[in-house]
Amino acid sequence: MSIPERLAGKVAIVTGAGRGIGRTIADTLASEGASVAVAELNMEAAQESVDLITEAGGTAVAVALNLGKVETIAPMIDQVVAAFGRLDILVNNAGLVQINPFLKVEEEEWDRVMNVNLKGTFFCLQAAAKQMEKQGEGGRIISMSSISGRGGRADSSVYAASKMGIISITRSAALALADKNILVNAICPGIVPTPMWDQIDDERARLFGYEAGTARAALVEQVPLKRVAEAEEVSAVVAFLASSESSFITGQAINVDGGMEMD
Ligand SMILES: NC(=O)c1ccc[n+]([C@@H]2O[C@H](COP(=O)([O-])OP(=O)(O)OC[C@H]3O[C@@H](n4cnc5c(N)ncnc54)[C@H](O)[C@@H]3O)[C@@H](O)[C@H]2O)c1
Repeated sequence: MSIPERLAGKVAIVTGAGRGIGRTIADTLASEGASVAVAELNMEAAQESVDLITEAGGTAVAVALNLGKVETIAPMIDQVVAAFGRLDILVNNAGLVQINPFLKVEEEEWDRVMNVNLKGTFFCLQAAAKQMEKQGEGGRIISMSSISGRGGRADSSVYAASKMGIISITRSAALALADKNILVNAICPGIVPTPMWDQIDDERARLFGYEAGTARAALVEQVPLKRVAEAEEVSAVVAFLASSESSFITGQAINVDGGMEMD
C-alpha cells in the first residue's frame, strides 16, 4: 500500500533552502507532494537543491531572495505564484548567526543579524499571508526560531534576541491571521549539524581558544538524548505543521532539541 502524499497539490516556499536544514525541508515537502520554491541568496546552491528534488521525481523551482532586503520579498512571491499558481505554505527558514561576546557586540552586527533574522522574517511572513488571504483558502506559515530563542546566550546575544523575536512574531501573526485560517507556528531546533554549526564551532574556537569541534561535543553532553538532531527530525515536524493533521495548532513554538529545553 502506498503512503498518501499529505501535501499533494500544495505550493510551498522554503527560504534558505540551498543547504542545511532548509534543503532537507524542501526535499521533505516535495516528497510529500508539494511543489516547492527554493528561495535563496545563493542561486547556485538553490539550483542544486532543485536538481536533487527533480531527480527524485518532485517539483521545484529556484527563486531569488535576499531576506535582508525587504524589496526582494514581494517579487519572489509573485514569481512563485506565476510558476505554480498559488501559495499554501511558507517556511521562513533562512537566517544567520554570529558568535561574539556580549561586550564586543557593535551596531553593525545588530543591524545585520536583526535585518535578516527578524525584519526579513516578519515581512516575508506578512507578504505570504497577504497572498494567502487573497486566495481565501487559509494557509500555513512555519518560522525557524531556535532553542537560543528560549533564553539568553552570552556569546550570541543578537542571534538569541532575533530568535526570541521570531516567537513573538509567530504569536502575533497567529492571532492576526486566525480568522483567515492561516495557521502560524515556529520550530526551535537544538543542535543540527549544518554549515551554520560548522561556522559556530569555528568562531568559538577562534574567539575562545577551543580546539575546533569541541564546543559542539560539550553541548551534546547537555542534550538529554545525548546526540545532535538529524535535519530530517526537524523537517518531519515542518511537514506535520504544513499538513491538515495539525489543523488545530497555531501560535506555538515547538522545541525539536532532544529535551534541551522543556518550556
Ligand atoms: N543548525 C542548527 O543547529 C540550528 C539550530 C537552531 C536554529 N537554526 C535555524 O535554522 C535555520 C537554518 O539553519 P542552518 O543551520 O540550515 O543554516 P545554514 O547557514 O547552513 O543555511 C542557511 C541558508 O540560508 C541562506 N541565507 C542566508 N541569508 C539569507 C538571506 N539574506 N536571504 C536568503 N537566504 C539566505 C544561505 O544562503 C543558506 O543556504 C536558521 O534560521 C537557523 O538560525 C539552526
